[in-house]
Amino acid sequence: MAKKLYIETVGCQMNVLDSELVVGSLRRQGYELIHEATEADVILFNTCSVRQHAEDKIYSALGRLRSHKQRHPGKIVGVLGCMAQKDQELIRRRAPHVDIVCGTGQLARLPELIAEVEKTGRPQLALSLDRQEASRLDVERSFASYDPLREPSMRPSPYQAYVRIMIGCDKFCTYCIVPQVRGPEQSRPPEHIAAEVRQLAGEGCKEVTLLGQTVNSYKHDRADGRRERLADLLARIHDTAGIERIKFITNFPRDMSDDLLDAVRELPKVCPYLHVPVQSGCNEVLKRMKRLYTVEYYRDMLARCRERVPGVAISSDFIVGFCGESEASFARSCDLVATAGFKNSFIFKYSPRPGTKGDELYADDVPEEVKKRRNNELLAIQNKVSLADHLSRIGEVVEVLVEGPSKTALKQEPGHGPIQLTGRTRTDHIVVFEGNPRLTGNTVSVRVAEATAFTLFGIVETSEQVVHDHASVAQTLAPAQAKYGQRLGLPVL
Ligand code: SAH
Ligand code: SF4
Ligand code: F3S
Repeated sequence: MAKKLYIETVGCQMNVLDSELVVGSLRRQGYELIHEATEADVILFNTCSVRQHAEDKIYSALGRLRSHKQRHPGKIVGVLGCMAQKDQELIRRRAPHVDIVCGTGQLARLPELIAEVEKTGRPQLALSLDRQEASRLDVERSFASYDPLREPSMRPSPYQAYVRIMIGCDKFCTYCIVPQVRGPEQSRPPEHIAAEVRQLAGEGCKEVTLLGQTVNSYKHDRADGRRERLADLLARIHDTAGIERIKFITNFPRDMSDDLLDAVRELPKVCPYLHVPVQSGCNEVLKRMKRLYTVEYYRDMLARCRERVPGVAISSDFIVGFCGESEASFARSCDLVATAGFKNSFIFKYSPRPGTKGDELYADDVPEEVKKRRNNELLAIQNKVSLADHLSRIGEVVEVLVEGPSKTALKQEPGHGPIQLTGRTRTDHIVVFEGNPRLTGNTVSVRVAEATAFTLFGIVETSEQVVHDHASVAQTLAPAQAKYGQRLGLPVL
């Protein structure tokens, strides 16, 4: 009988991709993916350390498994990813029933670690070197980019895929643990990336999102002495047959070059959507965060993005309650959100991370209730801005890549005929509309009719020719049908 695998993932898109790849490689070894931890033979947690809350979630999940593991000592429990790299042996002290601790740079070794636990019953640790304790080259080597073969059935959507173009980060913002847990910044060779995009396109993938902690810092020095940057990489993969959309996240404000913006404007498949986190609207705070730019620089960059890429949508991240953030500093963040016109902002309460400069140098002096209030206030301003942006789009016809049934439709009883579908525009706006589930994976034109702060609601304008193209729909829909078909009672094509 096939061995059963369970995996729980927290954290960013990098982790979502890592989990997809881990599951793909274990499936090739005969594992079957299931959705109930206690039924599995191998139980994995792919973890995040960016805020305390993400770590607490994993430690409590591990706590809940303790007695289960005592009753079934043959089951294997593994902690993967950022928290594994950060906490190392501490994980086994807090949760002695953990068999495997495997850092972000060691995921390729996971099958071998599982086999070793099965054979010896002894715990296995696979970690990359500490950045402070070895030479740059040795540390780089210990953080290997994890890029095994892709498997279409493991993706959340067969039509969309993440593609890693770089690993690690060298920016060392003072609040952030990522440079420690993901290691030094290293770009993958462009030929490898292009080959992966071709493979994905061959499997029916239409949209690729290139991933990097600071994706616009991508640089690869070629043997002929030329340096390839993100703009060159976009041009290189642009003509891949079958790929319709290319997105990339996350951008660092200082590395938003004119060349890159020109590439976004000129390459039609590259979507006019830029996620460029600012973190704070106050120069003093930005300085303590070591973000390497001022608010004025950031505003100029925004203006440059909009001038060079007409119609571009820009989103941002903010941290509230960072060390020394006064009411006046916070008011500057409010002012930036009110005036910058972000499509949306992800807002986080500062969470001190032991091992970062911020934690070492500054006191976490903003009380939790104040962080909470500032978080809510900033969110309320952003929601107003998002709503205004969304309302201004009513009447527009937008191009939507259909991702599948909306959350509401998934909760409803399966039936026939149109259901509520969801997808995204080229500017990353979420659109919900009624349509035949067979539209999943197709690009359709939708006229926006209504809007909230989070969603555009619309009516499909061009479904006819798409739904009637049965042969290609059948081909592209097979994996989605396997995933949603049963639930939705789809007619077999
Ligand atoms: N590499 C990306 C994002 C990394 S983490 C970038 O540089 O933009 C994602 C977001 O988490 C960050 O943009 C920041 O807003 C938030 N974040 C990082 N460390 C944090 C901390 N210690 N406390 C609260 N939020 C944090
Ligand atoms: Fe963290 Fe800053 Fe690197 Fe982003 S750029 S991952 S916030 S250190
Ligand atoms: Fe978290 Fe690691 Fe991503 S710390 S945000 S999962 S890089």
